[in-house]
Amino acid sequence: MHSWNLQSWRDKPILQQPTYKDQIKLEEVEQKLAKYPPLVFAEEVRSLKKQLSDATEGNAFLLQGGDCAESFAEFNADNIKDFFKVFLQMSVILTFAGGKPVVKVGRIAGQFAKPRSSDFETIGDITLPSYRGDIINSIEFTKEAREPDPYRMLSAYNQSAATQNLIRAFARGGFADLNKVHRWNVDFSDETTADQRYRELSDKIQQALNFMQACGIDSKSAPNLAQTILYTSHEALLLNYEEALTRKDSLSGKYYDCSAHMLWIGDRTRQVDGAHVEFLRGVDNPIGVKAGPSTSVDDLLKLLDTLNPENESGKMNVIVRMGADKVGDYFPKLLQAVKKEGKKVLWSCDPMHGNTIKTSNNYKTREFHNVLKEVENFFDIHQAEGTHAGGIHLEMTGKDVTECIGGGQNIGEENLSSRYHTHCDPRLNAHQALELAFLIADSLKNRK
Ligand code: PEP
Ligand code: CO
Repeated sequence: MHSWNLQSWRDKPILQQPTYKDQIKLEEVEQKLAKYPPLVFAEEVRSLKKQLSDATEGNAFLLQGGDCAESFAEFNADNIKDFFKVFLQMSVILTFAGGKPVVKVGRIAGQFAKPRSSDFETIGDITLPSYRGDIINSIEFTKEAREPDPYRMLSAYNQSAATQNLIRAFARGGFADLNKVHRWNVDFSDETTADQRYRELSDKIQQALNFMQACGIDSKSAPNLAQTILYTSHEALLLNYEEALTRKDSLSGKYYDCSAHMLWIGDRTRQVDGAHVEFLRGVDNPIGVKAGPSTSVDDLLKLLDTLNPENESGKMNVIVRMGADKVGDYFPKLLQAVKKEGKKVLWSCDPMHGNTIKTSNNYKTREFHNVLKEVENFFDIHQAEGTHAGGIHLEMTGKDVTECIGGGQNIGEENLSSRYHTHCDPRLNAHQALELAFLIADSLKNRK
């Protein structure tokens, strides 16, 4: 294979990129970012890889989730805190049921760039370039707002740094102490069955902690009880940004994309000879690849060979996003081929992106029962093949939004307009996220 360097992606065919009018401004931003401090540290990336290797072998479970698209407008401490709380709750639910560590990876602190199905959007008789995420242009439907602006990369970097800082503070500063398991409950007036189940579970955990404390084990003697790690991830779509944040690690001599601990390649940009695969094959981070219905066995095996030629465990996460009705037709052949070739893959299920529909009043939504169904089918397929369902990849928020239909609050089409805040795809709200975590927990328990 030809040699890799930081810029070798620039000679490859590339999809889903903005066209910046001002190349000088673009270079100025790239040079600035290249001098800025990395957002993550290589040693952290290596420890995530080790934990993902455990999940690959079936000894841990990957919980990955967050916004479809982070936005400049929704950036505040409250949103980050509520997401963090629900993520901790889900993690406790899954750990309790599975009896295995849960590796927590947020779609956060960098999830800004979005692939779009069309380059243009038309409203009435006006056609403008599509919104591509706040790191590129603005969602407002005006000519000026839709013009890609390189300076937005600097704002995205700053927001990511501040988000990462708060996450580290929450994770290390006492907020994530298991003794606060009750306090992670987000207070909403309409309590669902999942919320009640969480209350019961947190009572049990508190009893266990009280018992352990009586035996002399508490957060002081066992700091793991008081601290956690939330790793960060995003789709590595805007390669100018990713290249500028990639650093050579002085210890290992390897390159790390220090914009996040883990990066993934979207379903629309996973061409083996394309720019995105070229860029990511050169960095040592764990890499996710989305696999939708158009992924052939040949595509997937070539991707694994290119991105992980040494077949290292913990390096590759294939994120299956077929749709509830299609996963049974398209996934088993991929799984069987990978198993036959002995490739090390952590399989996770994204039950969101294959289940997006448009309502009659033009809201993009997802039906909660389809999300549940895809997860169940994914677990069943693994059970039939004797392989591990290693993780889950979700679009979710800690807020009580009304973006997905169904769940314990019975959100209907007519309720979507009430709190529909996403900048891109519909997310599970806090209740729906808990409900899904309990479903997965039940599956893990039944299959133990
Ligand atoms: C996403 O994860 O937001 C996304 C665009 O997914 P996919 O590449 O699977 O369509
Ligand atoms: Co999405």
